[in-house]
Amino acid sequence: MSRIAVAGATGTAGAKIAARLTAAGHTVVPVSRSAGVDLHTGEGLKEALAGADAVIDAANAFPSDPAADVVGTVAGATRLLLDTARELGVPRFVLVSICNIENPVFDQNLYYVAKREQEKAVAASGLRTTIVKTTQWHEFATNPAAVVLGDTEVTVGDWLVQPVAADAVADVVAALTVAADAPEVVELSGPETIRLPELTRRLLAARGDARPVRTVPAAVPALAEGAQLAPAAARIVGPTIEEWLRARTK
Ligand SMILES: NC(=O)c1ccc[n+]([C@@H]2O[C@H](COP(=O)([O-])OP(=O)(O)OC[C@H]3O[C@@H](n4cnc5c(N)ncnc54)[C@H](OP(=O)(O)O)[C@@H]3O)[C@@H](O)[C@H]2O)c1
Repeated sequence: MSRIAVAGATGTAGAKIAARLTAAGHTVVPVSRSAGVDLHTGEGLKEALAGADAVIDAANAFPSDPAADVVGTVAGATRLLLDTARELGVPRFVLVSICNIENPVFDQNLYYVAKREQEKAVAASGLRTTIVKTTQWHEFATNPAAVVLGDTEVTVGDWLVQPVAADAVADVVAALTVAADAPEVVELSGPETIRLPELTRRLLAARGDARPVRTVPAAVPALAEGAQLAPAAARIVGPTIEEWLRARTK
């Protein structure tokens, strides 16, 4: 049984990861502002990480100020976690990241540049680390990064995606965190490709939401052409989109 600090423990993936670890008998220490820990200021962080056997970074510490430095703030949160883990002697660190962010077509995407910086900091940390890179999750169907949920219509960027369920991501992250022999990098994807507006349309229909979905150009044109599909080395994990929708609406 281990003590595991989960950054982003209230988030889409973090909550599922925390639930799995708790069910497996581990003690989860939540790291999020709602738990009194702020990855921008460091408030509460040493107390949260003290005595931990591992830290999972599934946070999304995006700055609330639109004028703020996105790369510095998002990557800075991970660097602060790493520095604190090292200082307190926490040996193990797992980061949740995104497939394909290293593709030069994303050089102007500040969030992806921040994720690259996170990955570099983790790899150089000297801790025993695993980076779990995944394609977009099924839950991305309503993510503000590509979707605007308006009162009368929903607009969705024309991404071609190969989504994976956040539940499947959580299974892998939780298992690898406590594994003795986890690899340094794991890539994960779901089994099917779909255009994001169609995924959103199917999710809204399953929820009985009648708002029409309008496709708008993707912010990065390469996203429409498959720059976010599964890399060749990705592990493919279910459920399918249909199975995921059915499980959500049962
Ligand atoms: N969504 C996808 O399709 C996808 C795909 C691949 C990888 N990822 C990666 O997975 C990670 C998690 O994404 P998600 O969608 O699960 O995030 P999310 O649902 O937006 O949750 C974000 C979490 O971060 C915490 N947080 C935000 N700012 C914080 C701060 N300043 N200090 C401490 N905690 C803070 C939030 O808690 P509080 O609000 O309580 O602070 C929350 O628990 C991200 O790194 C993302 O890049 C996402």
